[in-house]
Amino acid sequence: MTALDLSSPVAVVGTGTMGQGIAQVALVAGHPVRLYDAVDGRAREAADSIGARLDRLVEKDRLTGAERDAARARLTSAESLDALADCVLVVEAVVERLDVKQELFRALEDVVGDDCLLATNTSSLSVTAVGGALRVPGRFVGLHFFNPAPLLPLVEVVSGFATDPASATRAYETARAWGKTPVTCADTPGFVVNRVARPFYAEALAVHELRAADPATIDAVLRESGGFRMGAFELTDLIGQDVNESVTHSVWQAFFQDVRFTPSLAQRRLVESGRLGRKSGQGWYDYRDGAERPGPHTAPPAEAPAYVVVEGDLGPAAELVGLIREAGVEVRAGDGYG
Ligand SMILES: NC(=O)c1ccc[n+]([C@@H]2O[C@H](COP(=O)([O-])OP(=O)(O)OC[C@H]3O[C@@H](n4cnc5c(N)ncnc54)[C@H](O)[C@@H]3O)[C@@H](O)[C@H]2O)c1
Repeated sequence: MTALDLSSPVAVVGTGTMGQGIAQVALVAGHPVRLYDAVDGRAREAADSIGARLDRLVEKDRLTGAERDAARARLTSAESLDALADCVLVVEAVVERLDVKQELFRALEDVVGDDCLLATNTSSLSVTAVGGALRVPGRFVGLHFFNPAPLLPLVEVVSGFATDPASATRAYETARAWGKTPVTCADTPGFVVNRVARPFYAEALAVHELRAADPATIDAVLRESGGFRMGAFELTDLIGQDVNESVTHSVWQAFFQDVRFTPSLAQRRLVESGRLGRKSGQGWYDYRDGAERPGPHTAPPAEAPAYVVVEGDLGPAAELVGLIREAGVEVRAGDGYG
């Protein structure tokens, strides 16, 4: 089973944040791409903003002027779903609502051929449920890109209950041909990434709710000791507290309210107060003009002790002895050491 032929047209339905990114990926890979959005004019605006992003790639020498022009010529916006009739793949990136997605796919099935691959970019809905009402459900698959889609390599290829393995393989190979790093996964709540990420947010929120440390301190620990690019508080401010909470809620519900995925009351209050993060100017942190970012609470430097006594078998901590000596502190062996 091979990837889709690059000369075949691919459609992206829903041309917001994700739709634009996914369209850019398919376009740069070489496909003719059709954009469709339910809101009049939005697909055209999306084509313009993808064009502007291609211009920036040329400025950064990541694309030649000729490649940009050819890609721009392959990109069209459609006025109706009928214009997607000859597409070999439709990727849906519309609003995260089951009823809206189901209705869209039912309408698409009346337009495209039976061998057209249909894919949803849903983050938190069941792929099985989204494709549940289709006449030919075997060609339906989850193709979950991450934001920003042109930059982030990972794509989760999700098989629903009715997904034909050949469709999943074709989607996988296509994502790979587009320069992505696809992984296959089953249709479980949150798939892999959004599920694994839940405890990352939940534990940080719990530490804060227990008043063990404030957001700036927890974020600093996650970044500087945990090696994460961003801490849980700054990351949820970037994602949007409402968006992050709704994924948590959906995973929690889908796992029959498993306590491990329980949403946070502190985050609920933040959303209720309209502090949605960067997009609203305030979240865990204040992003308004002139606002200062709080620093982590750190202990003041302490006087080095005159000596350190070590006792017993230190195991993996034995390396500390060398570090203590290097710092100029005397190490004394206690009873039973060494
Ligand atoms: N934003 C993210 O970080 C992210 C990451 C991965 C997956 N997703 C998923 O991608 C999907 C889209 O998210 P987004 O952030 O791009 O949303 P968005 O709000 O930026 O864009 C959604 C677009 O869909 C259009 N739309 C709504 N209903 C439609 C319909 N019936 N037919 C055609 N167009 C319709 C809207 O007009 C809008 O332009 C969601 O399922 C979301 O869960 C989002």
